[in-house]
Amino acid sequence: MNKKMARVPGVSFFLRSLLVVIAGVWATALAAETPSHPKLTRGKILYDRNCAFCHGEDGHADTPVAKLLQTHPRNFADPVEMARVNDNEIHEAIKEGRPGTAMAAWGQVFSELEIGDLMDHIRSLTLPRPPTLTTEQLSVEIGRRIYKKDCVECHGVDGRANTEAAKVLRPPPANFADPVETARMDDGRMYSAIKLGIPGTSMGGWGGLMNPAEIIDVMRYIRTLEQPLPPGMSKSGLDVTVGGNIYRKYCISCHGEKGDGDTELGNALAKLPRDFTSAKEMARLDQKKMAEAIAHGKPGTAMAPWNGILNPEDIRRVTLFIRQKFQHRP
Ligand code: HEC
Ligand code: HEC
Ligand code: HEC
Repeated sequence: MNKKMARVPGVSFFLRSLLVVIAGVWATALAAETPSHPKLTRGKILYDRNCAFCHGEDGHADTPVAKLLQTHPRNFADPVEMARVNDNEIHEAIKEGRPGTAMAAWGQVFSELEIGDLMDHIRSLTLPRPPTLTTEQLSVEIGRRIYKKDCVECHGVDGRANTEAAKVLRPPPANFADPVETARMDDGRMYSAIKLGIPGTSMGGWGGLMNPAEIIDVMRYIRTLEQPLPPGMSKSGLDVTVGGNIYRKYCISCHGEKGDGDTELGNALAKLPRDFTSAKEMARLDQKKMAEAIAHGKPGTAMAPWNGILNPEDIRRVTLFIRQKFQHRP
């Protein structure tokens, strides 16, 4: 804690020492004389003596001391802030503190019973959620705050990933505004990217810092950043464009720009890739057969299964692209 505070500019030596004393020795001394009041009242007395200094009597954390802290305490009164904070987290924060912040460990100071009283008091400070705020809106609002704090730097305020940081990143951060890009981000893929990160990129995993509900909150918010289709692009135009992107990313090395499989890699294969420009060959391949071959591959050939990488929507789109964009010679 001292290390963190020492970095706060403008905090005099006196105030710094005072903070150290307050959070440590003073707290211990005061906590020793625990009054025997009913549960809630006891929580309040303990809280007002030991915690209000930073967290504020009403939980707003807008005390003069709190303003000086580098890691600012959460507003206990704000129902949005508190909606995803579970009892385990509160208990652990009180008992073990938050290393690297001004939040000291109180486990040696308070009994489990007293920690329980403090927890009840903290909960009682939280104002009720406004009845006009639906569960969905609450989720989006929590997601917006997480996004603003943790994601903006790379993905940008409006999700367009046009930040300074994004300019130097390879691959660039995902663009959440572009409907062509978001078309491939199904919920499962997004969830796993946020929880586990994407290996080999600057997209780190947030699973250690966010609980599952918070991951869903931030996903909900990200969906609100998506812009409508560009003028002149229909839903099926989008499908073909997305299919083309998939083709260029995963298929072009064998099947070629023209779709005839006349590539260096394609020609080197024992079994040549299907010629998508041959009307005769394509006539034998209906939508279902194509989708099947893409999902599960063609055993004994270089055509691998893609179902771990492409979801059914992706597969539908790439087959549309193959059918519509390649010239079919007789
Ligand atoms: C010297 C200032 C200070 C004092 C005194 C203090 N806290 Fe904190 N507290 C903090 C800061 C700063 C954080 C934020 C830490 C973080 O974000 O990781 C915090 C976080 C917490 C949290 C975690 C909430 C969350 O964000 O999940 C709880 C619960 C908490 N404090 C309870 C207490 C209780 C109970 C007391 C009194 C026994 C107390 N604090 C005393 C500074 C203080
Ligand atoms: C340091 C930069 C950075 C930060 C911070 C960051 N991201 Fe990313 N993110 C990336 C990059 C780069 C990619 C693209 C990786 C790729 O193309 O494989 C990405 C991809 C993603 C994707 C995957 C989209 C897809 O293709 O399925 C999601 C979802 C995502 N980020 C969400 C988040 C969220 C939520 C946060 C904040 C909690 C966040 N990111 C913070 C850099 C960042
Ligand atoms: C490493 C080379 C290679 C890559 C990459 C590749 N293919 Fe193939 N593909 C083949 C070969 C070889 C065949 C012919 C298999 C056969 O004759 O049964 C084939 C056949 C096909 C067929 C026809 C299946 C059938 O039943 O005749 C489709 C459709 C197809 N590929 C789609 C794709 C798509 C979509 C991608 C990208 C997601 C892709 N391929 C990536 C090599 C590749």
